[in-house]
Amino acid sequence: MITTNPFAEISAFIPPAIMQTYVILMFLLVVGGTILDVLHKKSAQYFFENAEKAKKAATTEVSSAAKKALIVKTLTNEVLTSSEFSNQKRRLSHLLTMYGFILFVLSTVVMIFAYPTAINDTPALWPLLWHLGALMLCVGGYWFWFAIRVDLASEGKLWYQISPRADMFILSLLATCTFALLWSISQGVWLFFALFILSSTILFGGVLWSKFAHMFFKPAAAYQKRVTRADGSRENLPGDFDLASADVHAKFPDIPEYMGTNPENMGLGIKREAPHHY
Ligand code: HEM
Repeated sequence: MITTNPFAEISAFIPPAIMQTYVILMFLLVVGGTILDVLHKKSAQYFFENAEKAKKAATTEVSSAAKKALIVKTLTNEVLTSSEFSNQKRRLSHLLTMYGFILFVLSTVVMIFAYPTAINDTPALWPLLWHLGALMLCVGGYWFWFAIRVDLASEGKLWYQISPRADMFILSLLATCTFALLWSISQGVWLFFALFILSSTILFGGVLWSKFAHMFFKPAAAYQKRVTRADGSRENLPGDFDLASADVHAKFPDIPEYMGTNPENMGLGIKREAPHHY
């Protein structure tokens, strides 16, 4: 079952041209939704104005070779390995969700466009990746939904309290892959197929209202953040000071006066205690 192309199996009932048109339509909805999102929120305008502001506040110039190195670092760290998540559970859950989604979408496209009717001739790799991707997304996504997301873990919200806009992305992702798996495991129950298509239409058609487009915006924001650290503008935030350094004592004489010449590093206040006062 997990080595059979599920789309080829239903090609006798739904012509491949219809399935291919649906996939193209979903792709166009994502592109259109992202462009409308950028226009509506003026996020591109904000991004470039903010980058200009940072340039003015820069204390050093970042060479183009250094900028290329920052692009590579952003790709290998923030994009490919979700390094922004300092909480390792959130990071692992995000990696499972992200790579699961990529495998699921990629194998869907290959099976629908390259092997639309090849029930017995689709290389087993593609259906395997399709099932594996959906399963990875479900593991990472349900873990996130039931245990990790901020309003549940830190604000004491119950798992079934839903904020339609904020939760539309994760819920439609989970519904798409859950119903896809149920459709495959049940060997083609049409109700599961209908729910699979309904959820995926909400996922790809709801880009304007959901968090879907973060997968395109976050890499740019992560790169810009690296630039502000390299050029010294630091988004107007204070620098990281070594409280035991003589230079820092000269600049802020009240540090040695109140804390001694070798103050203990107390770390980030936010990490001192996990939030549980709800
Ligand atoms: C296939 C691509 C991706 C998928 C399926 C995905 C999925 C998700 C999900 C489900 C969430 C939780 C959203 C929620 O709060 O409901 C999330 C959050 C997040 N993602 Fe992704 N993601 C993808 C790509 C990326 C990329 C490329 C980056 C960074 C370069 C990224 C960075 C983040 C960050 C920083 C958050 C936390 C946002 C916050 O808590 O405000 N994601 N992602």
